[in-house]
Amino acid sequence: MSISLFTGKINLIISKNRIINKIVILGKNRPMQKKVYKIQTEEYTNIEELSESDRHLVEVAREASVNAYAPYSGFKVGAALLLADDIIVKGNNQENADFTDGICAERCTLFFAHSAYPDQPVVALAVTAHNRKGLLPGPVQPCGSCRQVLIETESRYNRQIRIILDGAEKIMILDGADNLLPFAFKPDALG
Ligand code: THU
Repeated sequence: MSISLFTGKINLIISKNRIINKIVILGKNRPMQKKVYKIQTEEYTNIEELSESDRHLVEVAREASVNAYAPYSGFKVGAALLLADDIIVKGNNQENADFTDGICAERCTLFFAHSAYPDQPVVALAVTAHNRKGLLPGPVQPCGSCRQVLIETESRYNRQIRIILDGAEKIMILDGADNLLPFAFKPDALG
């Protein structure tokens, strides 16, 4: 192994003159920077405080959650999407005895919307959930996979999605999926 302090590189050598690996370590001229990135939310204490359109979407999501198939978790999630032509699409989570084959309410609803209305940008999404005790108190938080699919939908239609996360005591609204998944993997990364 040879170490060059000048270039900041370590070269691992297994046989004479043959380099198999190079690890670049931080050079002394690259100071670390700490940065703070912001996310923005609107927060409400109950459904009555929402605009008529947001409230309606949450009500549709709550209705949809009733039909969730969640015999294993008892956690019923409903989602409602507002599409560009004022079309509303709803869905819920669908579980399976082979747990990994189930799907969340958000992805179930997004994929249905894209298959039935491929030319309709998604304007807004409302998500709600109740467990065996009732409606969750705090805003329901979509899982990582659903966040990634929301990012894809925004890229596909080049439009941010208003995201309404329902809860009995707190409802959170976000302007777009970047607030849920900063530093996301996006299609443009593929080049
Ligand atoms: N679930 C959703 O439908 N959406 C989420 O954002 C989180 C979790 C579902 C998946 C599973 O059926 C149940 O909730 C428990 O994880």
